[in-house]
Amino acid sequence: MYICTKNTSMQINPFLTTGYISKEYFCDREKETENLINYCTNGNNVTLVSLRRLGKSGLIQHVFENLKDNETIETIYVDIYSTRTLEDFIKRISEAILKKFPEKTPFGKIFWEFIKRLRPLISFDNITGDPQVQIMYQSEHEKTSTIQNLFEIIEKQNKRVIIAIDEFQQINEYPEKNIEAILRSQIQFLKNITFIFCGSKQSILYDMFSNAKRPFYMSTQFMNLDKIENNKYAEFIKEKFEKGEMNVTNEAINLILSLTKTYTFYTQKLCNKLYGMKPEQIDIELVKNSYFEIIEETKLSFLQIRELLTKAQWNYLIAIAKEEGISKITSQDFLMRYKIGTASNSKRLMKALIEKDLINKIHTIKESTYCINDVFLNHWLKESY
Ligand SMILES: Nc1ncnc2c1ncn2[C@@H]1O[C@H](COP(=O)(O)OP(=O)(O)OP(=O)(O)O)[C@@H](O)[C@H]1O
Ligand SMILES: [Mg+2]
Repeated sequence: MYICTKNTSMQINPFLTTGYISKEYFCDREKETENLINYCTNGNNVTLVSLRRLGKSGLIQHVFENLKDNETIETIYVDIYSTRTLEDFIKRISEAILKKFPEKTPFGKIFWEFIKRLRPLISFDNITGDPQVQIMYQSEHEKTSTIQNLFEIIEKQNKRVIIAIDEFQQINEYPEKNIEAILRSQIQFLKNITFIFCGSKQSILYDMFSNAKRPFYMSTQFMNLDKIENNKYAEFIKEKFEKGEMNVTNEAINLILSLTKTYTFYTQKLCNKLYGMKPEQIDIELVKNSYFEIIEETKLSFLQIRELLTKAQWNYLIAIAKEEGISKITSQDFLMRYKIGTASNSKRLMKALIEKDLINKIHTIKESTYCINDVFLNHWLKESY
């Protein structure tokens, strides 16, 4: 669930560890923002991928914030992580549109009329006031035509509409078998709507959009989000601490970035902790201590991971941690050093850990590297075993 908080009146820690607030708390991504805006405003659908927690959802929010004052563009953000069926999917998109275009607005009026024709139960969330829609369908076919009508109505507006669907890989979990084909066939004829498909399961999304046998094959522009550049992140960190009247040495900043591998979420987490302590001076010692404190605090959840794995999987995870990432998982040297057994054993264990979202396969032109995607977990495993 992605949280977007607009209330900035209270004193907040400028290093966010969840959601997006405003440009002020967002580091760099200037080029990526420009590219994404260019793709979308020129009618290209985009698939946005990256390693976990690197800043995909944040980038979308940032792009939408940048487009806020553009009167020719409307933006809609939908997170479908918790959806389980096509019905949930329609519900989530309808709610996002109803929220974006209240009944009083000219387009809102048309859209609400359409929704009401579907005999929905509409209620409003007690806390957020957001509309909630419950639609009763007579048949499976009715669901497909509802999606089609939904897109057609949006298409009729004389504005470009950018719809970002986050955690898009979730549609693979729906029981409806032909959902990809249904969506693809409807999306391809839309001229005023562009989509950003985004998700945290890289390998699933790559397969959906680059496998010639699947409906979405080559239908979007791929955009791969990388880490934020070291010097840009260093500047951002320095500025935020200094604004909070904390002095931070250059060595301390370098250490923050090297311990967290300039991996957005982990860098934010460590800076957030340091900032929360409100020290006058941040030096190497303080950075080290805070880093170890975070690892200590997270230890319980690491131990829970162990409970979910077989002994062989756990040992394999430790091996990958000690290697700090590895390319040749079937080399004799690797198999022997960690007593993994056969090459096919190694492949099987790797597949299981990728499926459990503990390891990422990073594609480069030359070869693929496998890494543990949690920087803190990697450190803890490496040091504890
Ligand atoms: N450019 C940025 N500057 C500062 N903080 C950022 C930036 N981008 C993302 N963040 C923060 O980093 C964390 C992870 O970002 P985000 O949730 O956008 O990543 P994600 O790639 O969508 O993750 P997931 O793969 O889990 O969906 C969040 O706490 C977010 O606030
Ligand atoms: Mg995300």
